[in-house]
Amino acid sequence: MALKNINPTKTNAWQKLTDHFNEVENINIKDLYKDANRKADFSLELNDLLVDFSKNRITQETINLLVELANEVDLKDAVEKQFNGEVINVTEGREVLHTALRSNSEDPVLVEGKNVKPQIQTALRKIRSFSNKVISGKWKGYTGKSITDVVNIGIGGSDLGPDMIVESLQYYKNQLTTHFVSNIDGDHVSEIIKNLNPETTLFVIVSKTFTTQETITNAETIKNWFLKSATIFDIPKHFVAVSTNLEAVDNFGIDKANVFPMWNWVGGRFSLWSAVGLSISLSVGFDNYRALLDGAEEMDLHYRNTDFDKNIPVILALLSIWYNNFYGAETEAVLPYTQYLKKLPDYLQQAIMESNGKGVDRNGDKINYQTGTIVWGSTGTNMQHAFMQLVHQGTKLIPCDFIGYKESLYGLTDHHKKLMANYYGQMEALAFGKSKEEVHLELKFSGDEDKIATLLPFKVFEGNRPSNSILFDKLTPHSLGKLVALYEHKIYTQGILWNIYSYDQFGVELGKELAKKLLNKQ
Ligand code: F6P
Repeated sequence: MALKNINPTKTNAWQKLTDHFNEVENINIKDLYKDANRKADFSLELNDLLVDFSKNRITQETINLLVELANEVDLKDAVEKQFNGEVINVTEGREVLHTALRSNSEDPVLVEGKNVKPQIQTALRKIRSFSNKVISGKWKGYTGKSITDVVNIGIGGSDLGPDMIVESLQYYKNQLTTHFVSNIDGDHVSEIIKNLNPETTLFVIVSKTFTTQETITNAETIKNWFLKSATIFDIPKHFVAVSTNLEAVDNFGIDKANVFPMWNWVGGRFSLWSAVGLSISLSVGFDNYRALLDGAEEMDLHYRNTDFDKNIPVILALLSIWYNNFYGAETEAVLPYTQYLKKLPDYLQQAIMESNGKGVDRNGDKINYQTGTIVWGSTGTNMQHAFMQLVHQGTKLIPCDFIGYKESLYGLTDHHKKLMANYYGQMEALAFGKSKEEVHLELKFSGDEDKIATLLPFKVFEGNRPSNSILFDKLTPHSLGKLVALYEHKIYTQGILWNIYSYDQFGVELGKELAKKLLNKQ
């Protein structure tokens, strides 16, 4: 059965939320914090994860009404349909089963009547055995040397996910050096190959369709570069592919034994959990890769089985809708306080904006309410010296997700204390600001009384700017999997509430078609 088709703005809950918004629009987080239980009442825990959403412009009534909205559009039904493998990607006629890829349960998941779990297990075994061979040095290149470098050739979901995870898990990396080639810009591939030794490099071509212009062009360029020193008979030792298009892979010259499967029921931007994540497993070893999957599964089970008012991805999705659709916020910032997660905002841009950037509802009608948030961000503390001025004192409302870790990986506690002081300091500054009275006193006591008249308005922080604290114990493959799955479920939840299809991406096609036409004219 298809997903339900309910215009959220026509629900009773939406009407109640509109009335409620008119009442609470000007509430102040500072006032809400007069309640001693505020933090405890608006925090959720999931083992090593603590999400504190107390610094939002919400009351318990706001949460109750947002949950009512989720119930009225039957989010529960949509969640079950996704996990059960129903064709919820209706416009492309596909199931959406990235959750099955990380499931440890024996329960079958059926696609066209066939359980997909055995295929997933076979693929995982293949990833493990191949990764072990390459990492241990048993896999030899065409001159008998072990592999030292791995190059992932892909774009979009076939690049951003693996690249972000490999970067984030640098601490857990082995001796292999991993590179990512994505852009059609020939300077990108040239920069990557210029220092590589063809004898010791393994190329992983990742393309679900194996027709993507960027990936195939880069793969051909690299193959030609490789063949300057080797022969076509050496290709099997240096080129492997991840794809659904076996014929095109075969035509490229890749050995059938070196093809890792992809499935139509896994969307590109949700595919790092499949063999698309091969470069992750090569980079940090299969056990760490499995831990990443297990972390995601922990979030899956929480999402599927927890009441909405205690459900972390659902609460974050509802808050986002509250700001997007009621306060008119257009963007959201993702601010990880660890340099390891510097690629997370880029990754989330595809996941969120390719999924929910839709202007037509599940009925095919043009939508007259806001969907799809614009997401952006960078790591703390660097961004405090870059764009945070606008977030603190600008005219725009920008809800922020602060992502932090209680422990650092190398244990430089002095650095970590300072990092986390900034993490909490930023959220406090955003929420509570600095009043005229405070600025007045500050200037007075610092001996700048004469400057009060000229400086005071510029030094005031209005505050009342919302943020969430997403705090893990430590950055591990497991906690990273959990974090990524959290955002995936937030995306789907919002898509359901907005009555759109989150899993297609027709909006990327027209530009591609026109580029092809222009190319043919040249
Ligand atoms: O940008 C559009 C898109 O289809 C993405 O959804 C996908 O991740 C990317 O292109 C790459 O596609 P493929 O894996 O088929 O090369």
